[in-house]
Amino acid sequence: MNKELKILIINGPNLNMLGKREPEVYGNQGFEDYFTKLQFKYKTTELSYYQSNIEGEIITKIQEGDVAFDGIVLNAAAYTHTSVGIGDAVKAISTPVVEVHISNTFGREEFRHQSFISKNAAGVILGFGLKSYDLAIEGFLID
Ligand code: DQA
Repeated sequence: MNKELKILIINGPNLNMLGKREPEVYGNQGFEDYFTKLQFKYKTTELSYYQSNIEGEIITKIQEGDVAFDGIVLNAAAYTHTSVGIGDAVKAISTPVVEVHISNTFGREEFRHQSFISKNAAGVILGFGLKSYDLAIEGFLID
């Protein structure tokens, strides 16, 4: 089957701990399991997944994702609130980036209300748990 759209999901620091980490905030499911479900659900979309705890690696992956993918779904996790470099990388590429968060960051500590990514993102989805990623993918698929 010729997959129609290529979408790259990039997860930032501590998101490799999903399922174990603060389950009352982030739920009980690990991302690998969830990603398998996404691949099953979006069969005609080519989904790729990358996770890193290292800021520079995330920046490199965003750069590599330019043109190679039709869209990037980015949860930069804690770097969302601190990283000028990740914000600049999102601005530097032409592939649209949708910023996602599992939790509603605006309902949490004030330092989580700031994002260096939102201004340059094609859209922002937050607060729907892991479904935030489904919704971001849908955003690329809906005409
Ligand atoms: C997060 C929210 C961030 O504030 C936090 O640092 C994370 C996860 C979310 O998906 O809700 O690690 O991006």
